[in-house]
Amino acid sequence: MSDFSHVSVLLDETVENLAIKPDGIYADGTAGGGGHSFEIGRRLSKNGTLICTDRDSEAVEACTKRLGTLECKKDIIHSEFRALPEILKNRGIKLDGLLLDLGVSSHQLDTPDRGFSYLICG
Ligand SMILES: C[S@@+](CC[C@H](N)C(=O)[O-])C[C@H]1O[C@@H](n2cnc3c(N)ncnc32)[C@H](O)[C@@H]1O
Repeated sequence: MSDFSHVSVLLDETVENLAIKPDGIYADGTAGGGGHSFEIGRRLSKNGTLICTDRDSEAVEACTKRLGTLECKKDIIHSEFRALPEILKNRGIKLDGLLLDLGVSSHQLDTPDRGFSYLICG
């Protein structure tokens, strides 16, 4: 995998608006390399939980590395975010906050052999 570099957009504003409770349960549905996730996870105690999903296996690998030092409980899953309701139901948990960063990932644009496309629906 090439270097995973991405500047997280509105990082401070996003984290501030999530009003994170240290023992809360949060999900980042489009975790990418874990920029936002790291800042969320950093504010959680060892009783807090962070669930990350991303459809890109390289992002999941980078995110897993990035979040490695956090003390909170974390689950980093290679999955589309539409699976989150099922994931939460299976664990019997409810979220205190959810982040979906629907922008493009610099890593996917910067890596020539990745390619990129839009699918217009409707
Ligand atoms: C802008 S990046 C996220 C960057 C991340 N917030 C950060 O700060 O590092 C968007 C991510 O959404 C992922 N993605 C796109 N569609 C998705 C889907 N349906 N389910 C899960 N992840 C998706 C992409 O693979 C990409 O990694």
